[in-house]
Amino acid sequence: MADLEKPLDDAGLTNPAVREYVLHWAQYLGAERIEVVSASDDARLIQESLAADEIQPAGEGLYYSRSYAKDTARSEERTIVATSRPEDEGVYNNWRHSDEIRPVVEGHMQGAMAGKTMYVIPYLMAPPGSPLERYAAGVEITDNRTVCLHMIRMARVGVDLINGLADPDMFVRAVHVTGDLPNLGQGTDDDQRYFVTVADERTILHFGSSYGGNALLGKIAHGLRQAAYDGWASGEFLGEQFMLLGITDKETGETHHICGGFPSASGKTNLAMTLAPDALGERYHVSFYGDDIAWLWVAADGQLYGLNPENGVFGVAKDTNEDTNPTALDAIEEGTQALFTNVAYNESTHEVWWEGKTPARPTDPTGWRDWKGELIADRNPDEAGDPWAHPNSRFTTTLANVPNVAADFENPHGVKIDAIIFGGRTRDREPLVRAIDDLAEGVYDGLTLGAEATAAAEGVEGKLRYDPMSMRPFMSYPEGPYAAHWLNVVGAAKDQPVFAHVNWFQRDPEDGHFLWPGYRENLRALLWLVEYKKGQVTGRRTPVGVVPLREELNLDGLEIDSDELDTLLTIDVERWREEMGHREEHLKQFANLPEQIWEAHRRVAAALEAE
Ligand code: GDP
Ligand code: PGA
Ligand code: MN
Ligand code: MN
Repeated sequence: MADLEKPLDDAGLTNPAVREYVLHWAQYLGAERIEVVSASDDARLIQESLAADEIQPAGEGLYYSRSYAKDTARSEERTIVATSRPEDEGVYNNWRHSDEIRPVVEGHMQGAMAGKTMYVIPYLMAPPGSPLERYAAGVEITDNRTVCLHMIRMARVGVDLINGLADPDMFVRAVHVTGDLPNLGQGTDDDQRYFVTVADERTILHFGSSYGGNALLGKIAHGLRQAAYDGWASGEFLGEQFMLLGITDKETGETHHICGGFPSASGKTNLAMTLAPDALGERYHVSFYGDDIAWLWVAADGQLYGLNPENGVFGVAKDTNEDTNPTALDAIEEGTQALFTNVAYNESTHEVWWEGKTPARPTDPTGWRDWKGELIADRNPDEAGDPWAHPNSRFTTTLANVPNVAADFENPHGVKIDAIIFGGRTRDREPLVRAIDDLAEGVYDGLTLGAEATAAAEGVEGKLRYDPMSMRPFMSYPEGPYAAHWLNVVGAAKDQPVFAHVNWFQRDPEDGHFLWPGYRENLRALLWLVEYKKGQVTGRRTPVGVVPLREELNLDGLEIDSDELDTLLTIDVERWREEMGHREEHLKQFANLPEQIWEAHRRVAAALEAE
């Protein structure tokens, strides 16, 4: 015991509740030694990881890592929310009684760190001093040094952050054990992985993965699942899978803040990093606040605020290039200390590459290995077309590296929210943008978000499914109370935000090309929404919201086919009528859905019938 306590003393870890938690788990896991991690340890940890061949150099101040080939995305099936209250069971949270599931996952963990170092990562999700700070503290325990490197980039990490907690016991206990990855039966009937959030005990127990979405416990498990539960249980806030950005009109000096949810790998990071199109750059600037999580609450002044609890970006690499997202490329250039995961890597030149980074693959395959670690030069002809990078390969970098990060991105009081948007990959039906003025209709729209799933989750890519508010994989409590909590929190705000549904992914039914150019051009839809909110444009009222008139959209410098633009701004009433039946079935699954949501559904359905 004395041996195990020494590293805690040396690191200056004084919080007695944290010490007790750490020592308990060190013994249970059988850890050989303990190491307490702070952000200031990064350079040393990088050197150790390089020396141990856990990461490879990818240019000056850049690093590469490859995860086990069957461990490259979140596993929704193996993700469980547990509590001691059966009434917490929802449609999507895979609820289990904590008495039943806790021993199972703990059983897998027992003794699993024998001979290993147990890293202790004290972190804060939210800038210090925020009104939600008491929900932000956590301590991740992990056996994986690369997880430490990611956590240092994605969260605020340091002993000082948890020593002085107002309530020393109020921190999330987050335990991560990688497990013996080649022997966990991933995707089989004998799958050994468990990703459990014991929400009413504020305890996270993840076993069987080192992929970021499963292993960076501050991010998704705490920042989304636990935070959503805490926000509901306390009645104080919403924890959502939202990006958060500001749009400044340099002529008037005004800034509007927009947050919004799109399913994983559906454009949040790109939108928050948007560089205005060249023709609009003189006048407008987009500032980045967050790209994956926002916590929303009504502050003492009666207004709705949002903040990003994270300190970094865990971005999808695919198709990131100078045209689509120059800002992201700046955030991962040499010297940024960025990490790349599961992209292609050249072991001679230390370059990285992913599909869409350049129009063509590197011509000389010498030294290149694909995301599985296989030499490109050794590929069989029938594998020639396989991607070099995993479709869910990622880059990890801190917010401070993002060129358009907002000047006040660390303001713990967040920013006032003017608009809330939902979107996703929807190949038809959904226009470019439709604005919704009414709170219940906005919440209804979020609850009925239907989109194609992506490679960010195992085994569901391309599947069309409902993904309420883009929270389906992160939902921690039942959907009826979730909707009611939304109505309560946002409904309490003095100035109501405008809602909108956006879609950058409508396709031509014949050849499948995207009708809207997307990326930087998406700002045009958001500018219209801001003008709509201000009453400067009126749009055209449809049964499902207000769509822009063609002349209201700022199209300066944009080349777009006139008929395709018409399609993007048109409501296909027949297709929408058909959709309403599916929505009804979808909503019927949710017990105790507030009557206002059903009323919104019936209003939209009646308006469609009257068309
Ligand atoms: P996030 O996971 O929701 O943050 O999504 P990202 O912004 O990382 O984007 C996921 C994938 O969608 C990447 O491959 C992007 O290149 C692509 N993407 C993002 N925005 C757009 C867009 O406006 N149009 C198209 N066609 N693709 C986009
Ligand atoms: P994403 O974040 O939404 O940027 O893809 C990771 C995830 O949700 O798995
Ligand atoms: Mn996400
Ligand atoms: Mn993202």
